[in-house]
Amino acid sequence: METLLKEWYDKIKEAQSVENLEEIRICVFGKKGVLAAEFAKMKTAPNEEKSKIAQDLNTHKSSLMNELSARRITLQTIELQKSMKAEAIDVSMFSVGSEAGALHPVMETMDRIVEYFSAMNFAVKTGNMVEDDFNNFEALNLPKYHPARDMQDTFYFKDEMLLRTHTSPVQIRTMMSQKPPIRMIAPGAVFRRDYDITHTPMFHQVEGLLVDEEGKVSFANLKYIMEDFLKYMFGDVEVRFRPSFFPFTEPSSEVDISCVFCKGEGCRVCSKTGWIEILGCGIVDSNVFKAVKYENVSGYAFGLGVERMAMLIHHIGDLRSLFEGDIKLLEQFQ
Ligand code: PHE
Repeated sequence: METLLKEWYDKIKEAQSVENLEEIRICVFGKKGVLAAEFAKMKTAPNEEKSKIAQDLNTHKSSLMNELSARRITLQTIELQKSMKAEAIDVSMFSVGSEAGALHPVMETMDRIVEYFSAMNFAVKTGNMVEDDFNNFEALNLPKYHPARDMQDTFYFKDEMLLRTHTSPVQIRTMMSQKPPIRMIAPGAVFRRDYDITHTPMFHQVEGLLVDEEGKVSFANLKYIMEDFLKYMFGDVEVRFRPSFFPFTEPSSEVDISCVFCKGEGCRVCSKTGWIEILGCGIVDSNVFKAVKYENVSGYAFGLGVERMAMLIHHIGDLRSLFEGDIKLLEQFQ
């Protein structure tokens, strides 16, 4: 009996799962189990040994019970720990969905531009991306079949509707709907039939217009604000005004800054000139005022490309990369 039961003590100690332990329990304590068999054998033993055997059997019975419940508690604890490990959520784990968002470099640049002009008391206006021929061309001194229209080819709809080629039509819309004085900027998307490393069919401009009484607005005013604005955007750069042509301004000027890459030494980005063209501006042409029926006024206007500024600020080589929706690329400019 002793050796037989010793075997079961060992089995209990070595049981590897709660289920395994339950099988052992049935084998030991079940109706047809080991103990039942031992008690049955006792009946055939000599009478004087019976009580001793019964005593021993009962002692073993209770210590086997103790052994069994101790092992059960150990196994249950191990199993609980295992399942907690398997089901646990690791809160320290990196989650792909939890990154903070950021503005697109073009929008961020546009915000900085708007910030400057808002501080200078310019009101922010928006127009329509689908424009009519009058606002986009005609009223801006660009009559039909005029060769200057070739500078801005676009996408056309029926009935003289088109995707606006610049933000200048917002000048017209504003002057048609309110009286002078005017001090406005118009940020927004514009469209042209272009596609190469410095042009995309959709890009962004910020337009500016200031109108006041005749003789009150001079080229000197325009020059001052353009210089101040460009230094706000690019820091300590040289600013240069170059005579140019726009149908809606006279005189017109293109504005360059000293190259932010080579500091004016001459490099690939500035085509070895040391200068980078950054915006167009001028004194509002009298034909524009005529088109919107303004009299005895003077004004200046300017228009700049937002992508171009974003590229110079962030040293981006290919403009098209800004619109490929590549998060890894865009993250570099945060
Ligand atoms: N609208 C012009 C362009 O897109 C820019 C401009 C605006 C020039 C206002 C002068 C005055 O090229």
